[in-house]
Amino acid sequence: MDLGLKNRVALVAASSQGIGRATAEALAAEGCRVAMCARNEKTLQSAAEKIRKQYSAEVLAQAFDVTDAKAVKQFVAEVAEKFGGVDICVTNAGGPPAKGFLVATLEEWQRALETNFLSTVYFAREVIPHMQRKKWGRIITLTSITTKQPVDDLVLSNAVRAAVVGLVKSLANEFGKDGILVNNVGPGFTATDRLKELAKASASSSGKGEQEIFDAWAADAPLKRLGEPREVAETIVWLASERASYITGQTVLVDGGMYKGL
Ligand SMILES: NC(=O)c1ccc[n+]([C@@H]2O[C@H](COP(=O)([O-])OP(=O)(O)OC[C@H]3O[C@@H](n4cnc5c(N)ncnc54)[C@H](OP(=O)(O)O)[C@@H]3O)[C@@H](O)[C@H]2O)c1
Repeated sequence: MDLGLKNRVALVAASSQGIGRATAEALAAEGCRVAMCARNEKTLQSAAEKIRKQYSAEVLAQAFDVTDAKAVKQFVAEVAEKFGGVDICVTNAGGPPAKGFLVATLEEWQRALETNFLSTVYFAREVIPHMQRKKWGRIITLTSITTKQPVDDLVLSNAVRAAVVGLVKSLANEFGKDGILVNNVGPGFTATDRLKELAKASASSSGKGEQEIFDAWAADAPLKRLGEPREVAETIVWLASERASYITGQTVLVDGGMYKGL
């Protein structure tokens, strides 16, 4: 199937490792020119170089924190200047710490809002005018299964990511007339460093072993295993493609069936 992504300009935020990196790779594999960012320069440049070599892709990589609105603005401007616009924007950032409500501090609430909600606002504000000019665009927010089903001890994610879904639906409504499609992708438990962090936190609060926790997460999904970053990335690529041209304002879960609702 031709996804129609050749030469599209794809910006993937927080993409030096995990699901973001798998997404940058999958878009490069489809012939996109890719812009990547993350905070750690060394890890980011090493990931970018591997993608350049493996896919003969044009890659622009710049280290900054996605909670820095000025840095986001400057990055989007540089990407647009180098590549002639921004067609696809995948918003992403590291997940908030695993906490119960009374344990989470006000500073952690503030940080979660900035990292997992406002960063999406910053990117959307900057990329939409470029997409409007071309009458074509895709914004895909990478969030979590928590947008549909709260996860115990992840109150920061459960609460803050719901705001992203409100934003996604609003942007889909407002900019559909400009050919801009806006969707949200929610991974279930996916084998990345973030999941190791969550397993460690859960092990120390429950007294269980980390392997026992991984096994329980896998057992909770009808597919009886964790997801792979590639499986989330390929869903994002499809949503970004010409093949998903009548889908907007939706949340697509990539969770092995873990969501219990209808
Ligand atoms: N893995 C799962 O099971 C799972 C499930 C549901 C939802 N999610 C969510 O999906 C997202 C990606 O998860 P992942 O598992 O791929 O995480 P990961 O393996 O920890 O990777 C996170 C990536 O984001 C970058 N990053 C983190 N904070 C950033 C910031 N403030 N500014 C710029 N870059 C930043 C990291 O690089 P630097 O540290 O160098 O910045 C890294 O490249 C997270 O929000 C996570 O909560 C993951």
